[in-house]
Amino acid sequence: MNKKVAIVTGAAKGIGKAIAERMIAENYITILVDMDDENGKKLAIELGKNAHYINCNISNEESVVNLFNSVITQHKRIDALVNNAGIIKDNVIWKMPAEDFDAVINVNLKGTWLMCKNAASIMKTQQSGRIVNIASRAWLGNPGQSNYSASKAGVVGLTRVLALELGKHGVLVNAIAPGLIDTPLTQKLPLDVQEKLIQAQPTKSMGKPEDIANTVAFLCDEKTQFITGQTIYVDGGKSIGAGI
Ligand code: NAI
Repeated sequence: MNKKVAIVTGAAKGIGKAIAERMIAENYITILVDMDDENGKKLAIELGKNAHYINCNISNEESVVNLFNSVITQHKRIDALVNNAGIIKDNVIWKMPAEDFDAVINVNLKGTWLMCKNAASIMKTQQSGRIVNIASRAWLGNPGQSNYSASKAGVVGLTRVLALELGKHGVLVNAIAPGLIDTPLTQKLPLDVQEKLIQAQPTKSMGKPEDIANTVAFLCDEKTQFITGQTIYVDGGKSIGAGI
C-alpha cells in the first residue's frame, strides 16, 4: 500500500522506456503510458508485476481524465509524473503545413499540460509529488523546428508556472532539456545528418536514454529537495553555444 507510484508517458520506447526501467529499479509501481500497444505491453511484461501499461493519447482530455481515474482507483496516489511523450514534424516554416504545427503543439505542449493539470490536483491534495517534464535543448531554437522549439519553450514556461503554483503544496516541478540522444526518433535521421550533429557536440557523442533516466531519478529522489522550476540540460554541453 505504501509503494510509490509513478506515471511515465511515451514509455514504450526510447527515452521513456529507459525512464520506466529506472523507475521500476527505484521501486515505484510504474504506469507506462503510450499509444504503441505492441511495445508498451511487451515492456510491461518484461518489467514485471510493478509495471502496468495503459493506452492513452495524452492530447485527448477524456483519455487523460480516464487514465488518472484508473490510476487513483487502483493505486490511490501518484508520487511522480514524468511527461516524456513527444513528437517531431520538422520543416522550415515556409514549407510547414499548419496541421504539423497543431499536431506537435497538441502532443508536446497541450498533452503535457493536460497531464500536469490532472496530476496537480491529486498532488495538491496529497501535499507531495514530483513532476518532471521532458523539454528539449531545442527550446533555445533549432532551424526547421519552429513547431517543436515553440512547443518545448512552452513546456519550460509551464514548468516554471507549476513550480510557483505548487511549491507551497510540497510539489516540486522541473524540466530536463535533452540534447542529441540515441533513440528511434534520432535513428530516423540520415546517417550523414547524425554525424554532423555529433560533430557539433562538445563531447563528440550522442547521449543515451539512460542519461535522461538518471536525471529523472535524481529529481524524483526524496533526498533531492529545494530544486524546483529549473530546466536541467543533459546535452553533452551543446547548450553552452557550440553551434552547427
Ligand atoms: P520516441 O519517438 O523514440 O518515443 C516517443 C514515445 O512517445 C513513443 O513511444 C510514442 O508512441 C509516444 N507518443 C507519441 N505521441 C503520444 C501521445 N499523443 N500519447 C501518448 N504517447 C505518445 O522519442 P524519444 O527520442 O524517446 O523522445 C522522448 C522525449 O524526449 C520527447 O518529448 C522528445 O521531444 C524529447 N527529446 C528527445 C531528444 C532525442 O534526441 N531523442 C532530444 C531532446 C528531447
